[in-house]
Amino acid sequence: MKRLDGKSALITGAARGIGRGFAERYIAEGATVAIADIDFDAAKATADALGDAAYGVHLDVSDQASIDACLASVVARAGKLDILINNAALFDAAQTVDITRGSFDSLFAVNVAGTLFTMQAAAKQMIAQGHGGKIINMASQAGRRGEALVLVYCATKAAVISMTQSAGLNLIDHGINVNAIAPGVVDGEHWVHVDAMFAKLEGKAPGQKKTEVEAGVPAGRFAVPDDLTGMAVFLASPDSDYIVSQTYNVDGGQWMS
Ligand SMILES: NC(=O)c1ccc[n+]([C@@H]2O[C@H](COP(=O)([O-])OP(=O)(O)OC[C@H]3O[C@@H](n4cnc5c(N)ncnc54)[C@H](O)[C@@H]3O)[C@@H](O)[C@H]2O)c1
Repeated sequence: MKRLDGKSALITGAARGIGRGFAERYIAEGATVAIADIDFDAAKATADALGDAAYGVHLDVSDQASIDACLASVVARAGKLDILINNAALFDAAQTVDITRGSFDSLFAVNVAGTLFTMQAAAKQMIAQGHGGKIINMASQAGRRGEALVLVYCATKAAVISMTQSAGLNLIDHGINVNAIAPGVVDGEHWVHVDAMFAKLEGKAPGQKKTEVEAGVPAGRFAVPDDLTGMAVFLASPDSDYIVSQTYNVDGGQWMS
């Protein structure tokens, strides 16, 4: 028997990157997965590529009506929701004196409010179903500490760790486990964007920041999404039923906590 047989999962920001990797692995473990993304065309293309157990859903986690419509689509399609991965997020980098209100507002709207209110909508559905559930929030090593040029993103990921603690303590009353994964550096389109930002901010050549960051990873390399999928399956399976409010580092040894 596969570990997620018959489960219905919703993964936000799953059109690409880590979320797509989670979707692929969850399907291999027997789940049906909603590929929910603000880029609906990309979500549909990813769902098509992953086969019949995947379906694309439009979702903007910063918009309550969109969250509600997404949950309704999941219930209409799969009949229930067992697992949520709150994976969608935005990144930005700037000197502290150059941070704009626009950047702050958009990162907090997606990474913090988006995580909270998607978690809330999923929890309401799981409570109504009456047999618990699993919620996994994507934090980051950036939420464990500050970074000189990454104040806003670090603050949003610290908030994700904190929200995971409080929601986990509250929702375990309903048999819902809320936990989080804190990756280190994971290769993909996200890092193309991050490298370009640092090239501009620190006057580096394209690719230089990535090479420097990789040299600092104790495991000797960037992660690929598959390095995280084992933890995502574990936290969605009955093996994690007694785990509440935790954030697990899956980062090749970059952070101790
Ligand atoms: N890549 C890394 O090095 C790294 C490290 C630590 C943590 N993380 C976290 O892991 C998660 C996935 O990272 P990734 O590298 O795959 O990111 P990514 O940027 O490649 O993908 C993010 C996805 O979210 C979608 N999205 C953006 N705004 C949205 C919104 N408002 N509503 C719905 N979807 C939206 C995007 O369209 C995209 O498909 C994020 O939470 C990120 O913060 C990533």
